[in-house]
Amino acid sequence: MERVSAPSGGRESFGTRAGFILAAAGSAIGLGNMWRFPYLASEGGGATFVLMYIVFTMLVGIPLLLAEFAIGRRGQGAPVASMRALGGRRWGRVGLLFVAAGLFILSYYSVIAGWTLRYALDALLGDFAPSAADRFGEISSGTGAVAFHVGFMAITTLVVVGGVKAGIERTSLLLMPALFVIVVGLAIWAATLPGAHAGYLVYLSPDLDEITNPAIWRAAASQALFSLSLGMGGMLTFASYLRRDQNLPESGTVVAFSDFGVAFTAGLMVFPLIHSLGLQAAVGESTVGALFIALPGAFASMGSVGRVVGLFFFVVLAVGALTSAISLLEVVTASLMDEFRLPRRAAATGAGVVIAVLGVFPALDIGVLGLMDKIAGELLLLAGALAIAIFAGWRASVAVQDELRAGASRRWQACVRPIVLALRWLVPPIVAVALFSSMRETLAAVGAFLAG
Ligand code: TRP
Repeated sequence: MERVSAPSGGRESFGTRAGFILAAAGSAIGLGNMWRFPYLASEGGGATFVLMYIVFTMLVGIPLLLAEFAIGRRGQGAPVASMRALGGRRWGRVGLLFVAAGLFILSYYSVIAGWTLRYALDALLGDFAPSAADRFGEISSGTGAVAFHVGFMAITTLVVVGGVKAGIERTSLLLMPALFVIVVGLAIWAATLPGAHAGYLVYLSPDLDEITNPAIWRAAASQALFSLSLGMGGMLTFASYLRRDQNLPESGTVVAFSDFGVAFTAGLMVFPLIHSLGLQAAVGESTVGALFIALPGAFASMGSVGRVVGLFFFVVLAVGALTSAISLLEVVTASLMDEFRLPRRAAATGAGVVIAVLGVFPALDIGVLGLMDKIAGELLLLAGALAIAIFAGWRASVAVQDELRAGASRRWQACVRPIVLALRWLVPPIVAVALFSSMRETLAAVGAFLAG
């Protein structure tokens, strides 16, 4: 771990193509896929939500992902430095928005990751508690919640201190294949449950009433951004460690499809499980903790099988959370390295400590956590996404097109023009509408929170 900051003239870089793709997929695949997605899908009319989500991933997600890739590789820096290099000082300041989003998102994301660690320990050391709601109450409050959050941040910080190759790339190469195997295994197991069929029906048949519900549309749009880690420069920062021979459109497509694949497969596990045990009502309660109560409850009622399956489930959640947390911390770390010429170790440790302290608030109060998810996980991301689309579609569109073509085969080069047109005309209005509606709702949520 004796990684020094980039030696003069050389920026750190990924060692292999697969390393970059798995690191980007690792950033994308996380709690968003295995917890937020099934939860939103069960709220949003099953297949109706899934279809909306696919539409937004294609129209908004992939163009923004490629925009981040292009800006990062061209700018060779974290968001602030890259946007400054391509668009001037003012745009560099927009990059600060991303650093703030990363800081806030990670501070509550790590709290939830801490819960998953704790559930995994429950399964490992004894059993899931019979009263799942009480256990969730214990896990999500008090010093225990703070301790596991801080522990998770310590692990994340260690990986980021290790640097791009030895820390981030190596962790992704090791953990991501394991995650894929376990998620598929869990879905196959769920298919054997009695009554699995009912779960598939709800998941895969559309509830057409929801099509006219704007709240579901917005949830699908912001989930498409959250799940692909867009709107705060995480993908941008990873791409800044690439050389120009990587095929960006192809890599982006692979990342987006693996992200969708894992979310969809997680649904194939969660829906049968919930329905075969008649837990729909518990999940429908629509709080952050719904799945965290329903699933351990389900595992507890299944004896030793539940214990083993539950262990795998929570380990996979924790692993997914770790590779995502790494990318969030890397944005802040890389920005500190760029702007203040700090060595990696100091930048990562400093950022990690600040985030660990910030996270004490959501760790102690789940209401704060929900609020931070609305403000940072939705509002700031939508604002960031809008900024990136305008930047890539208008301000720096020539550089972005050129960068997307470099390293791409002829077939993929043909996609570049449509992508830039989407960034210019399609993405900004869609994201602006979602941003506007999210602003109103967030204000209402803040008001309700302050009112007690
Ligand atoms: N995409 C991750 C998930 O689905 C979370 C995440 C990591 C993220 N980096 C991000 C979300 C950057 C928004 C922005 O769990």
